[in-house]
Amino acid sequence: MEIEPERHQIEAPTRSTFSLLFLLFDGSAVLRLLSKIFSFSSRPFSFSFLPSPPPPPLFFVLPPLSQPLQVRADLNVPLDKDLKITDDTRIRAAIPTLKYLVDNGAKVLLTSHLGRPKDGPEDKFRLNPVVPRLQELLKGTKVGKVDDCIGESVAKAAKALGNGKEGGRFRGVFFSAGKRGGMKGRRRARNKLEEKKLTLLFFLSIPPPPHPSGELLVLENVRFYKAETKNEPDFAKALAANADIYVNDAFGTAHRAHGSTEGVTKYLSPSVAGFCMQKELDYLDGAVAQPKRPFAAIVGGSKMSSKIGVIETLINKVDKIFLGGGMIFTFYKAQGKAVGASLVEEDKLDLARELIAMAEKKGVQFILPTDVIVADKFAADAKTQVVSIDAIPDGWMGLDIGPNSLKAFQAALSDCKQVIWNGPMGVFEMDAFAKGTYGVAETLAELTPKGTVTIIGGGDSVAAVEKAGLADKMSHISTGGGASLELLEGKVLPGVAALDEALVAA
Ligand code: 3PG
Ligand code: MG
Repeated sequence: MEIEPERHQIEAPTRSTFSLLFLLFDGSAVLRLLSKIFSFSSRPFSFSFLPSPPPPPLFFVLPPLSQPLQVRADLNVPLDKDLKITDDTRIRAAIPTLKYLVDNGAKVLLTSHLGRPKDGPEDKFRLNPVVPRLQELLKGTKVGKVDDCIGESVAKAAKALGNGKEGGRFRGVFFSAGKRGGMKGRRRARNKLEEKKLTLLFFLSIPPPPHPSGELLVLENVRFYKAETKNEPDFAKALAANADIYVNDAFGTAHRAHGSTEGVTKYLSPSVAGFCMQKELDYLDGAVAQPKRPFAAIVGGSKMSSKIGVIETLINKVDKIFLGGGMIFTFYKAQGKAVGASLVEEDKLDLARELIAMAEKKGVQFILPTDVIVADKFAADAKTQVVSIDAIPDGWMGLDIGPNSLKAFQAALSDCKQVIWNGPMGVFEMDAFAKGTYGVAETLAELTPKGTVTIIGGGDSVAAVEKAGLADKMSHISTGGGASLELLEGKVLPGVAALDEALVAA
């Protein structure tokens, strides 16, 4: 499969509007001059010549790097029993950052976890399968691997990168400019650069310098050490030992305060976001905070309890909210309807009523399906029928939304300028109960070219869109499951907060 740059690359003015002029002379004079200029402005460090808002990522020109950079990606891809990758989305999502870095001559130490190993190294959790895929996607770049992520073997391999020569040709590094707290972050980043007496930044439209090719070294699964998930400082320090700068591109793991996502930022400076991370934050945080309207949320999934936070947060932001999936039966029961053998969370009935009342108070349209597909058992070969939600027969369970609901959803979505979707409409893993989910996927795929921003945030709905072959028809498909959910709930992700531009959730 080819990389799809338009999907995974940030549409920031990084390459399109600006190219970088990399000036590698002693920058202290420029630094002094610029700080003089900036001291006239009320804000100590203002980039008024950049388009605003939103602020683009900042580029800093660095002196020759003697050390490699450390990139944390989420290469936690699904493998089959022969250790073949069954979905390489996350690897492809990491490519724009890796390519940018190696094209600029950087030596990159790449860290990730894979799966949840419990007790030290296990072959089925090694990152080996990822290496040839990276090699294919980064044609022309040398991609190596070490069977550890800390210690002597890593130090030796890191030293040998680029034939042991200085990484002197790498000259640019990007900083994500968070939409909130951006100036503070930039200032902090600037201070860090000053401490290091680094050369300064330039934004000029001239062609970038010829790209020398950097090198990539994949380190072994960081979770082979328990200290990773415990975020033990000694481990983080050891992880940081062979690198200089830290780039976190692992959005899917940003909700974990682990050694390789959080701890390491205390020992590597600056610590910045990669393109994948930035794009995820732009959509799941930025677009949600400042939406195009009408803005709709479609929330599905089997359990209401796992989506309460998302529904509550989104009710405060959207104009319409559509519900689907197993959780709708808790709402129906709360409204006094008979739901047969459908899944109900009895302890959430009050909450369901509160959410409906909350939406009403805010003037948000709260749209529940009007018909459902019911089955006589939870199985692919179950007997099924389409019924109104007022006529669910005893002993039958609802496993998908019905055709009338789908039509109503389509009609109500048609004028929306932004839609975020989290959670399937039914048990789409079984064909008999997949129509609602695929129908919503198709509707969104049709809206995207008409100018609607379509954001698919979170595990199962992403899997459904991929399975329907519609992934490239959406504005944004998140690489994060738990991470998207937490971000949509308004939580601070520790992996993001630790970066030099801490992004503060609402
Ligand atoms: C994921 O797949 O959800 C991420 O890679 C994080 O993995 P984890 O849930 O095992 O922390
Ligand atoms: Mg997870």
